Amino acid sequence: MSHDQSDSQAKAQVESQSQSSTEPTAKSLLKNQPGLVKSSSHPMFATKEPEIMTWHTLCEESVIAEDGLYAFEIPQNTYQHPIVLINKAGVLYALHDECPHRRVKISSQGYIDDENIYCGFHHWGFKLETGAHLLPTGICVAHYQVRRENGQVQVKI
Ligand code: FES
Repeated sequence: MSHDQSDSQAKAQVESQSQSSTEPTAKSLLKNQPGLVKSSSHPMFATKEPEIMTWHTLCEESVIAEDGLYAFEIPQNTYQHPIVLINKAGVLYALHDECPHRRVKISSQGYIDDENIYCGFHHWGFKLETGAHLLPTGICVAHYQVRRENGQVQVKI
């Protein structure tokens, strides 16, 4: 028997054993985990898992005026997570409050129109709905789920 034949027989034997086995594999165990998000193996691109995202109360709903921008910081470990809350015609939006251009707070001199928010320093614009830059640059600011709950405004991060 040649070396190639013995290798192929061993491979076929392993395949037939794995097909007939009823033991769950690591892959099958991971497949049905609720809330488990596939992420890249590189930590730089790792996806935040939904179960560690929680709702944070920002303020009372009554203090949010129409067409207003409001800055908040949510403590997360040693980091103060900056959030800009926008009330556009009664619809609330929450974006990461840091301009990707020079890392200044968008809320500090920002302004809005019907669908966008602009950084007041050099007027980069971002979609309120998605945080995407108005030009096709691929740049965006993170946007977050926001809700009204029992008279309070909450954001999920
Ligand atoms: S710092 Fe925001 S556009 Fe330049």
